[in-house]
Amino acid sequence: MTRAVRVAVVPGDGIGPEVCTAALPLVARAAALDGAHLACTELDWGGERLLRTGHAMPEDALDVARAHDAIFFGAVGHPDIAPAVSVWTLVLPLRKALDLYVNLRPVSALDGLPGPVAGGPDADFVVVRENTEGEYSGIGGRLHVGTPAEVATEVAVHSRRGIARVARYALALARARGGTLSLVTKSNALRHGYALWDEVVGAIAADGFPDVLLECVFVDAMAARIIERPGSLDVLLCSNLFGDILSDLAAPLAGGLGMAPSANLDPEGGATGLFEPVHGSAPDIVGRGIANPGAAILSGAMLLDANGCPEGAAGLRRAVAAAVRDGDARTPDLGGSATTAGAAAAVGGALDDALRAAAPSIGAREG
Ligand code: NAD
Ligand code: IPM
Ligand code: MN
Repeated sequence: MTRAVRVAVVPGDGIGPEVCTAALPLVARAAALDGAHLACTELDWGGERLLRTGHAMPEDALDVARAHDAIFFGAVGHPDIAPAVSVWTLVLPLRKALDLYVNLRPVSALDGLPGPVAGGPDADFVVVRENTEGEYSGIGGRLHVGTPAEVATEVAVHSRRGIARVARYALALARARGGTLSLVTKSNALRHGYALWDEVVGAIAADGFPDVLLECVFVDAMAARIIERPGSLDVLLCSNLFGDILSDLAAPLAGGLGMAPSANLDPEGGATGLFEPVHGSAPDIVGRGIANPGAAILSGAMLLDANGCPEGAAGLRRAVAAAVRDGDARTPDLGGSATTAGAAAAVGGALDDALRAAAPSIGAREG
């Protein structure tokens, strides 16, 4: 019996189930390259459950999550539910309650995919997004609702501890990649919270990471640089909101939202990680069978990496790159005509080659 990686599968809303159904069997097959298999529990958490029961997740959701090694997540966003309710009843509570303070969003240009900007093919960087506080604190409220005097507050919370722990992770990543850490803030105009970012990251870098080059870049300038000189970037350290926006901005350098993966991690505490596409439920294409499964498959590669399956992760990434290069995995968002299932089959074909080369006995088509 091979080693089991226990995966809680939360397909969620919109195209979430479509891309999870396409991606998961490939992730499972790739795990065989490391002598592992996936033991999956499919969960109905999400919009439909919320409409049916009043709760997107069961009361014991955290215990269920903690009983698994990873959560493989599709998307939130249901046409009959206000977006703020969808996100604040599922994905944000999971990230926060599990204290998954690192949101890792790699951006790597793919061979043969024409990018939208000059220099795009050089793109190979990682957005490290603080994932538990900042502009997403949830603190705020409204006063004098519905009157001309109405006031709303949305309080950003930046804590020394929250900044320090994600900074240590990003600095270590920059060191491992032999590159530069670009700290992205707006400490010129937002002079309290982002001033703390500058101070805390600067001190940790000077103390523990003198070999890592640290640069401080304002978020507006970084937005231009991602388009103008993506090849100059290596690791970006961002607050919650800036990381959200910049990761969507950068996604087209690597094929667009349909190809952008992410991992939500607790690198120190070792809580169950959550692996999900950067994209949402894509209501404009739901049910048409044309959603790109690439982001979900690549999120699956991040899941394998985080769970002791580096060969499977690398095999999956190579398979995606090959199938996109050959054109067979190009869904309409990539300029092709592949369906979700067709794109996944093309990736599966490329993965079969890796499985056969590794061990003919694995049986290329078995889960
Ligand atoms: P979105 O990412 O769902 O869609 C933006 C655009 O990208 C759309 O045109 C969509 O068709 C396209 N797209 C996204 N994924 C694709 C894929 N796999 N293949 C092909 N095209 C793809 O963003 P949105 O429209 O702003 O949000 C829709 C809903 O999703 C909202 O309710 C939002 O709150 C939610 N959302 C959830 C997550 C998440 O679950 N982590 C992320 C972003 C948005
Ligand atoms: C993402 C999404 C979420 C975020 C939403 C759905 C809350 O946009 O994962 O990028 O803002 O983090
Ligand atoms: Mn986003």
